[in-house]
Amino acid sequence: MNIYTFKNEADFNATGASLIASLLHTKPRAVLGLATGSTPVGIYGRLIEMYQQGLVSFAKASSYNLDEYVGLPEGHSESYRTFMNEKLFNHIDIQLENTHVPNGNAADLKEECVKYDAMLEQNGPVDLQILGIGHNGHIGFNEPDDSLDGGTHVAELQEKTRTANARFFPSLDDVPKHAITMGVGSILKAKQILLLVRGEDKAEIVKRALKGPITTQCPASLLQCHPNVVVLLDQGAGRLL
Ligand code: GLP
Repeated sequence: MNIYTFKNEADFNATGASLIASLLHTKPRAVLGLATGSTPVGIYGRLIEMYQQGLVSFAKASSYNLDEYVGLPEGHSESYRTFMNEKLFNHIDIQLENTHVPNGNAADLKEECVKYDAMLEQNGPVDLQILGIGHNGHIGFNEPDDSLDGGTHVAELQEKTRTANARFFPSLDDVPKHAITMGVGSILKAKQILLLVRGEDKAEIVKRALKGPITTQCPASLLQCHPNVVVLLDQGAGRLL
């Protein structure tokens, strides 16, 4: 595991964006595993700038997002599909049909999960999987539990997760209670993982995830089993390492 700590946000974003851009240079048809949340937004912003400057192209790339809320109407401002379109896809040359986000409105959610895994199996493995981390150690929406699902599944969101994400909704009641998420098994199949964490409030969970015991009670700790993980932290998030 290679851990880098950054003093300033611009360097954090530039490093993350460069990793993705160099992958696309060596492999234009790269399969990207993308994440939502506030942490990757600056990196997506830097990638947009690089694209505008002719430094990177996504024309042949494809992407698979980690997760999506269940039940938000299509086009809802907080759906992860809308997030990805607005923060990245609408501003670069990726073909929209090559971007994949689980459909949280599928009539049959279980079937949607099976379909998503089949696509990942057929078009994967993911070359580079971007991850954030929740305060409880979740990755994607894989919440701490006695056991974890390997594949894509419908997850019930913990109160802590709903409360953390309530800042994006009018009230806590508006935060969905379920989401579709890739499982830890699917996540760990990626060739390389780029874990991004910022903020002092994440210092404790970063320590547990990277240095603590490997346990399903901290899903991010399973990343210690992966042979190729790059971690980018700001000073706050890396404070306890
Ligand atoms: C959500 C997403 C996760 C993300 C997490 C952290 O719960 N499902 O994929 O890692 O938020 O978000 P943030 O980067 O805003 O702290």
